[in-house]
Amino acid sequence: MTDASPWWRSAAIYQIYPRSYADGNADGVGDIAGIRSRLAHLRDLGVDALWISPWYVSPMADAGYDVADYRDIDPLFGTLREAEELIAQAHSLGLRVIVDLVPNHCSDQHPWFQAALTAGPGSPERSRFHFRPGRGESGALPPNDWPSHFGGPAWQRVTEADGTPGEWYLHLFAPGQPDFNWDSPAVRAEFESILRFWFDRGVDGFRIDVADNLVKHPGLPDLAAIPEGAPSPVSDQDGVHEVYRAWRRIADSYDGERIFVGELWVADRQRFIRYLRADELHTGFNFPFLQAEWSAERMRAVIDDTLAGHTQIGAPATWVLSNHDTTRHVTRYGRADSGYGFDRRRLHGTPVDLPTGTRRARAAALLTMALPGCVYVYQGDELGLWEVEDIPEHLIQDPAFHGTDGADPGRDGCRVPIPWEGDAPPFGFNGPDTHGDGTEPWLPQPAVWKEYTVAAQTGDPDSMLELYRRALRLRRAEPGLGDGPMRWLPTDDDGVLAFTRPGGLTCVVNFSRRPVELPPHEAVLLSSNGFDEGRLPPDSTVWLRT
Ligand code: NOJ
Repeated sequence: MTDASPWWRSAAIYQIYPRSYADGNADGVGDIAGIRSRLAHLRDLGVDALWISPWYVSPMADAGYDVADYRDIDPLFGTLREAEELIAQAHSLGLRVIVDLVPNHCSDQHPWFQAALTAGPGSPERSRFHFRPGRGESGALPPNDWPSHFGGPAWQRVTEADGTPGEWYLHLFAPGQPDFNWDSPAVRAEFESILRFWFDRGVDGFRIDVADNLVKHPGLPDLAAIPEGAPSPVSDQDGVHEVYRAWRRIADSYDGERIFVGELWVADRQRFIRYLRADELHTGFNFPFLQAEWSAERMRAVIDDTLAGHTQIGAPATWVLSNHDTTRHVTRYGRADSGYGFDRRRLHGTPVDLPTGTRRARAAALLTMALPGCVYVYQGDELGLWEVEDIPEHLIQDPAFHGTDGADPGRDGCRVPIPWEGDAPPFGFNGPDTHGDGTEPWLPQPAVWKEYTVAAQTGDPDSMLELYRRALRLRRAEPGLGDGPMRWLPTDDDGVLAFTRPGGLTCVVNFSRRPVELPPHEAVLLSSNGFDEGRLPPDSTVWLRT
């Protein structure tokens, strides 16, 4: 990582899911006070920045991704003053702060949506959302056939002021998350103002929620009317790029390299990289990498595809293994089918070999940190946490579970509160030295996590935490890591990937079932799982000085 390269081309970024990171007021839900009390963990870990999932005023229909006030903090998490103090405290520790922006939809409690309900059909207030009459004689059928991501149709009928059943509004997610109409100049102006509000408060960037969904195909055509293979009317519309060009001008008008990272589930690489043109977003999450199964062939293919696309456009790649929406990778890699798709129910609850998943997660951590670009760490990755798949149904909060009557197991299994210390739940989640006191965490933690707490892993050279700490430290110190070129090296075995970075750092990953010889080297810098008589064992990565 050279000093000349902007920070966001090489950064290691840690995702905080605030309700599950640390609970400062012992009400069972994480908050800003908790984050502040545990910021030292991130400094010691060696990341460069944190991304905080939504903390805004919200009825929590989707854990805060339903925002009722974009310019204030939900009392569950704290106050605006505390947010400002957190930003300043993070900066004083050398950590940058990225906040989550949710521009596709708001909460049904947002004043604009409430005004739209009151104002009635045809009003300017309704034009900020997608209101339509229903189909059928009495308008009792949804305006089109779009499904919600959380089950059922993407439309909800409202009751008009006179008490009669009225228009329908579009919600790609929960009914409590009405979609904004991005053809509305008022919506565009409002979000530009929100960007400035937080840039003025010192944030270093925004993670943009469902960044490819904002603009819909005019006329909102039925999916059934779209010819096979034709672009979706719901996502990746060309018109969305103008939004990001305007946003980029705002970011660039601030000092200190403020950035955007897009949540872009755009599978086509050529379509994906259009978002990363020099006057649009800086980076986007590389989900094909997260989705790839654990095999040399698949990983090599997705790395090649990623780098070819990003090099073409001049943007840095990102490497992400897990987040608050996806099955944790210890679990994924511990399954016979280690790929990931949105049909979560397919694999949920099927057998998991946790020791294998953990070995592979260790190897994957060193792989991602050696690849060119930025790396993301989702809270708990550094502790080797796995997906909790036996949460009692009555405790599950995710609307994806409830909206589908449980057909979708939901995402709470990757959102279980972090174990910090102690021998029993809540493992210091609700403050240091309060083992077992206070209100229960909002989701129960497995009792065996006593061996996975930050305290238990600290100082244990074999722990996941110490591996992450050593790797992130080395990544920072090695000038050849982060942004820059890489070159594949030939290997004797199809199940082995090897590549070299500037400055003589070689990374070797053994996906095969047998130990393999190491290439010639001067020294071993770091290994994920040790050696087997000098050879690299299966499911292992090593960094060599060559
Ligand atoms: C993507 C977010 O990551 C997810 O948690 C949320 O449910 C949807 N967008 C809707 O905002």
